[in-house]
Amino acid sequence: MSRPAPYSPTRIRVNPRNKRRRIARHGSTGPAEMKTNVVTIDPVFPDPAAIAGAAEVLRAGGLVAFPTETVYGLGADGLNPAAIARVFHAKGRPPHNPLILHVADTASARELASAWPATADRLAAAFWPGPLTLVVPRAATVPDLVTGGGATIALRRPAHSVAAALIASVGRPIAAPSANRSTRLSPTRAEHVLADLDGRIEMILDAGPTPGGLESTVLDVTTMPPAILRPGLVTATRIESVIGPLRHHDASSEAAPSLPRRSPGLDARHYAPRAALECFDGDAAAHVARLRGGGAKIGWLRFGPIPQMPGLDALSVSMPMTATDYAARLYAVLHDLDRAGVERIVVEWPPATEEWRAVRDRLARASAAPPS
Ligand code: TXA
Ligand code: MG
Repeated sequence: MSRPAPYSPTRIRVNPRNKRRRIARHGSTGPAEMKTNVVTIDPVFPDPAAIAGAAEVLRAGGLVAFPTETVYGLGADGLNPAAIARVFHAKGRPPHNPLILHVADTASARELASAWPATADRLAAAFWPGPLTLVVPRAATVPDLVTGGGATIALRRPAHSVAAALIASVGRPIAAPSANRSTRLSPTRAEHVLADLDGRIEMILDAGPTPGGLESTVLDVTTMPPAILRPGLVTATRIESVIGPLRHHDASSEAAPSLPRRSPGLDARHYAPRAALECFDGDAAAHVARLRGGGAKIGWLRFGPIPQMPGLDALSVSMPMTATDYAARLYAVLHDLDRAGVERIVVEWPPATEEWRAVRDRLARASAAPPS
């Protein structure tokens, strides 16, 4: 494969509004910001010309946000260190937090791994394309920047038609973290991406809301038995039905900075709205009424139907009672409440069962105290 042409700044049109904003915020001009091109695309039958245009931007070292079946990803050529560096910069992501490489098929995944355990084959056969990320030993061809200098690489074959078409068109793995500023909520709509990354990336492929709504399950298959590093849309029960019992991974140890990190994305405060988020056991109606009585603008994620009571408004949301529907809505609701300017969001805990694990994990992280 030939090396991609270096990224050419002459292709960037500066949006003066963004530049002024940047100067106001950071007190320095830094590199000029760019115009972010939003391209609407059909989620099921993506227009080949639009895909080819996005692939060209990626091959030239540019950044393209695109939908996957989980959340929008911020894509870059996964084998181009300069493009990867731009991903970290655009997100404000610490360099030690490694990226997932998105691949077209299992054969491409194997090329990026120095060893491919039998469990990886069985899991890929069962869950790919889909929202399962496999952590395996890395091949020497994977840039250090992608892995945060670590010995492993996270790989996933996404199911979304736009993501699949884009990877096929680029002909290389695409590195793609969620397309949000670091520690903030993942985007499930193009408008969420734009709110965080306007002026920092070349293009957004807008295919409407992403169906899954929560990030993929991250599974470490470098150990026997494997361990879930991040719960997601593929549950432990389903994984165990394919490869047998998993090892329990204590995610709480990830927050302790003195310990070596298995998965830096598991830092306690993550996936957080701007408003303080508080999780509440049981019916929060009286609690919310008390807070609102004091004049505060309070969002409320009710688990199930909203009871009839005075003072109810658009800031009270009746959340679905199945885990997949809840997951699909959660980030969009939190984004909406943030935009509405609420001070605090009260969330009633969904049940503590396996199918709710990923939702509860994200709620716990969103409610964790910010790092001091
Ligand atoms: O659903 C998803 O996974 C989305 C879409 C865009 O594919 N991507 C995503 O990427 O959520 P990101 O970068 O926001 O989260 C990746 C997670 C982080 O927690 C990161 O620390 C972990 O995966 N990770 C990446 N590489 C790893 C590795 N080699 N070992 C352990 N954890 C890794
Ligand atoms: Mg993320």
